[in-house]
Amino acid sequence: MKKLTIGLFGFGTVGQGLYTVLQNSKTVDAQIKRICIKNKDKKRSVDAHLFTANAADILDDPEINLVVELIDNANDAYAIVKGAMQRGKSVVSGNKTMLAFHLQEMIELQQRHNVALLYDASACGSIPVIRNLEEYYDNDLLTSLTGILNGSSNYILTKIFQEGDTYTHALKEAQDLGFAESNPTFDVDGFDSLYKLVILTLHAFGTIVNPNEVFNFGISNLQPCDIQFAREKGRRIKLVARVGKVNNDTITLYVMPRMLTPDLYIYGVEDEYNGVVIRGKYYDKQFMFGKGAGALPTGSAVLSDITAQFHDYRYEYKKYNEPTPPHYVTNNEVEVYLRYNNSKDFEQFVFTEIFEKYSSKEYSYVIGKIPLCNLLSIKHLIPKMDIFLATMRS
Ligand code: HSE
Repeated sequence: MKKLTIGLFGFGTVGQGLYTVLQNSKTVDAQIKRICIKNKDKKRSVDAHLFTANAADILDDPEINLVVELIDNANDAYAIVKGAMQRGKSVVSGNKTMLAFHLQEMIELQQRHNVALLYDASACGSIPVIRNLEEYYDNDLLTSLTGILNGSSNYILTKIFQEGDTYTHALKEAQDLGFAESNPTFDVDGFDSLYKLVILTLHAFGTIVNPNEVFNFGISNLQPCDIQFAREKGRRIKLVARVGKVNNDTITLYVMPRMLTPDLYIYGVEDEYNGVVIRGKYYDKQFMFGKGAGALPTGSAVLSDITAQFHDYRYEYKKYNEPTPPHYVTNNEVEVYLRYNNSKDFEQFVFTEIFEKYSSKEYSYVIGKIPLCNLLSIKHLIPKMDIFLATMRS
């Protein structure tokens, strides 16, 4: 009878969540043998003899047949995941940053060493998006995936919009509740959503996109005037990631706040919940919803990856293995709201059409269409600008 002997890397929010979930689950015969952490002397709530600070205690232990990697640092995660696969061990990973930058190599390592790497827990917490994209949507009908992929920024925006909370206070709460990354810039500036989107793009369309070549903008520049604008128009602002087909051969993707109208499913996704809308040629739209962050929801997703591995499940990357997956383009236009305080900033944006303009001593805004490639070409300048940007529609 198969038995999983697990070596766990990391005992932060998700690692502890997994420990609790695993203790209360009888589904699989799985036991954590060692836990590798940075600081061995830190006081822990579980048995001290489980802990080690030496990665080799897990990687070189022949009895450990599954490595679960739940650490923060992407470079260390890369070395651990690669090292485990090279030693013939299957891996469950939650590290979206590491995965997004190394997808091709991760696919090759699985093939070369005949092992599985599962990472449903890396995107959208407890919602089983990746496995559904792999198994149910294993055909070319899917046309777009649009979603709220980051729990922390959604929590912050909910508190601001529903309770009139301040950005700083809501962010502190998201950190205290264990939703935010150790560097919350990742959450609020759209990097976490971007890395998740790159992973989902591979499983939705078979295309590997370099995260550095994708436009992402977050919510850290949000000002009361932007909130007032959204309220007056009956909209809510949420951080949205989107990948969609432009035609049969091409896709486009980006992460930006969006001014959502109440008719959209993701308008009602609040707090740390995530929501993903999938559109397809013949089935119009479908909606997946669930907790996207937090110890136990994400721990549950990791357990699901562990049980999938127990049953010898592997991602087949069917769409990636097609002869010609669609390629990524940026010549499409997006309709945006651009709020700016300085006309020098505004001049960097090349609007092809303008629908609405407002100007006052305090701030100005424009609603119009911009080519995505223009946004990408000034991506490095935008962090220095006093602007807020949000899409008006997809
Ligand atoms: N910081 C992430 C979030 C955790 O807020 O969504 C889950 O990936």
